[in-house]
Amino acid sequence: MSKTVTGVSESEDENAEILKNNRDYTLLHWVKQKDANPINVSHADGSYFWDRDNKRYIDFSSQLMNVNIGHGNKKVAEAVAKQMAEVSHTHAGCMVTKIKGLLGKKISEIAPDGLNKSFFTLSGSDANEAAIMLARFYTGRHKIIARYRSYHGTSNGAASISGDPRKQPFDNNLLSGIVHVEDPYSYRCPWGQTSEEGTCEKALEHVERIINFEGAQTIAAIFMEGESGTSGCIKYPEGYLKGIRVLADKYDILMISDEVMSGFGRCGNWFGVQNADVIPDMITMAKGLTSGYIPMGGVIVHDKIADYLEDNAFGYGMTYGAHPVACAAALASIEVIEEEGMIENTRKMGEYAKDQLLKMMDINPSIGDVRITGLLGVIEVVKNRETKEPMAPWNASADEMAVMNKVFAKLRELGLFTFTRWNFIFVAPPLNVTKEEMDEGLAIISEALKIADEHCC
Ligand SMILES: Cc1ncc(COP(=O)(O)O)c(C=O)c1O
Repeated sequence: MSKTVTGVSESEDENAEILKNNRDYTLLHWVKQKDANPINVSHADGSYFWDRDNKRYIDFSSQLMNVNIGHGNKKVAEAVAKQMAEVSHTHAGCMVTKIKGLLGKKISEIAPDGLNKSFFTLSGSDANEAAIMLARFYTGRHKIIARYRSYHGTSNGAASISGDPRKQPFDNNLLSGIVHVEDPYSYRCPWGQTSEEGTCEKALEHVERIINFEGAQTIAAIFMEGESGTSGCIKYPEGYLKGIRVLADKYDILMISDEVMSGFGRCGNWFGVQNADVIPDMITMAKGLTSGYIPMGGVIVHDKIADYLEDNAFGYGMTYGAHPVACAAALASIEVIEEEGMIENTRKMGEYAKDQLLKMMDINPSIGDVRITGLLGVIEVVKNRETKEPMAPWNASADEMAVMNKVFAKLRELGLFTFTRWNFIFVAPPLNVTKEEMDEGLAIISEALKIADEHCC
């Protein structure tokens, strides 16, 4: 039997062959290969993608919270093709290109004051890798402070600063000198506080104690995500990032904002840290930088660090760094965000989503908390709103995931793809999502949550 997908005729045999080739000759990231049931993607457009049986999915997490401008944007595709034809690759240490200069200039315009120069890498992980090395190089100190409930990437340094448990099976040889602190998790305050202000105050006192225990003179940098992401969108309480900036200044430590997920409009501003009106010393970026059309990451450095690099060679680079084709994708994607008013739409749709999610709490008793900043949001699913017992705990075992796995399967069956984890369901569609698309996605989530609702006690 033949089916038509984007005008191409494909038989079920061909679909099976595609799956088989992938199964036999490639490895999926992050998952146990045997249990995986990947979606056989055919094409994508805007907030949707289709599998090869022509089933449509609404992409409620913009893949990995990176396809910020939505799928299938022609302007980016054309910019990439044009750059490929002009010059497709250059040596990142010995050559410059028009497109790299234009991208650097554009980023300096949208970045906080004083952050004007960008060092371009290939991904979020290696952007953070570069930032760790640069912080150590610039300060001459070695320790890095980061949060337990954080994810900064998968390479050795980036995994070391992450608190995310995915690294635990291979964490015997990570970087030394990495110190983790508790998060200002107001919903489950580690210090038993019942207000955001209380959590914020205790969290900052805690960070300062750790700085003093470790010895400020040994600490190069404090890493913060611009807004918490895959660890559960643990929204920073008001004043937290400002407080971190104060501590960094007091002890002469660099503050680094990892904007890999929270940047490029995702949180209703160019960078998440701008919501807190804070200027970090470095920003790391990837994902929304190119909206995922081509891999690219980077570090934006403060003028004081750029000045230091005038006389000190930072021995760090890579063959594909500052790739001209990636630069073209990035510049075009940033222009699309600007021209199509996507940051304004993100704020508006983020507020709308929040209102709708709060209304859903009347229908779905399993919704314990909703946290959303711009279009980076999460629903935290619980067994009981009073006790806040999670439907699946942090770093849940396979057995503990029984109910949530059924919810996740239902989402997929109903045609919604989103990032899910433990007791979290993410709400992070492309930044040009419409009200109708938001309604469609939230209705599916509400329907799937009925499975969890039955397990509330
Ligand atoms: C905050 C943050 N930093 C870094 C990374 C790693 O980026 P990449 O997957 O491009 O290496 C991620 C990925 O999810 C992230 O969310």
